[in-house]
Amino acid sequence: MGQLDGKTALVTGATWGIGLATAQRFAAEGAHVFVTGRRQDALDALVASLDGSATGVRADVTDDDDLDRVFAAVAGRGAGLDVLFANAGGGEFAALGDITVEHVRSTFDANVGGTLFTVQKALPLLNEGASVVLTGSNIDVKGVPAFSVYAATKAAIRSFARTWAAELVGRGIRVNSIAPGPVDTPGLSGLAGDPEGAKQLLDSLAAAVPMRRLGRPEEIADAVLFLASDSSRFVTGTEIYVDGGASQV
Ligand SMILES: NC(=O)c1ccc[n+]([C@@H]2O[C@H](COP(=O)([O-])OP(=O)(O)OC[C@H]3O[C@@H](n4cnc5c(N)ncnc54)[C@H](OP(=O)(O)O)[C@@H]3O)[C@@H](O)[C@H]2O)c1
Repeated sequence: MGQLDGKTALVTGATWGIGLATAQRFAAEGAHVFVTGRRQDALDALVASLDGSATGVRADVTDDDDLDRVFAAVAGRGAGLDVLFANAGGGEFAALGDITVEHVRSTFDANVGGTLFTVQKALPLLNEGASVVLTGSNIDVKGVPAFSVYAATKAAIRSFARTWAAELVGRGIRVNSIAPGPVDTPGLSGLAGDPEGAKQLLDSLAAAVPMRRLGRPEEIADAVLFLASDSSRFVTGTEIYVDGGASQV
């Protein structure tokens, strides 16, 4: 028996990395998974691989109309939403002194606005007992040079989880966040401009983790599954660090 048998889930940013691994895990645990991302070809491949357990809706989380189409599709299935993993997002390096208005707007639009409006538009569809999981980052408690705008967006995610948990507890809805450390995904390696730079970046990040390695997307998916499932039924408003000890040890 799967941990999400009969449940309906939505994973935003499911075409790559952490979201992809989590969508696959949710489907393997028995959920029907709505998956989103901006790249139609990657969405089509994911939906095909999940063999009837997934519905893909191409959507940019910064686009109001796109989000409306996602939730119209969820509503059309008629089962509400038991699990929402608001994961889409990302960041780029920009040191204080080089930060542009465009950098601030695009990072906050995707990570803060995208998460906020995803959860807000999901509200009418969330079933009693639903679990909302947000993707933060362990950078919310660390100072990392050239990552201040991204870190600020993830600190906002941590705050959202606390406030929304308080607002939704009366409906029996739990809200938590996960805080990954460096995880080997296209998003992380893409922070460096070229393959050689990516290798140096990933090596230096791994060396700074007490476990001396990067996380794997599947390891983040395991933690998201815990928060999504009834195993965490007495957990709300918290953040789980999945970072090889990087923020605590
Ligand atoms: N990897 C890490 O080390 C790490 C650490 C801490 C936190 N995180 C967080 O984990 C989440 C996933 O990161 P990842 O490393 O798995 O990244 P990734 O490999 O770049 O994947 C990001 C996913 O989000 C989607 N996405 C990005 N911007 C979007 C937008 N505006 N609208 C809709 N979809 C969007 C991408 O799909 P499309 O390209 O198809 O749009 C992709 O599926 C992010 O919130 C990131 O900040 C990552």
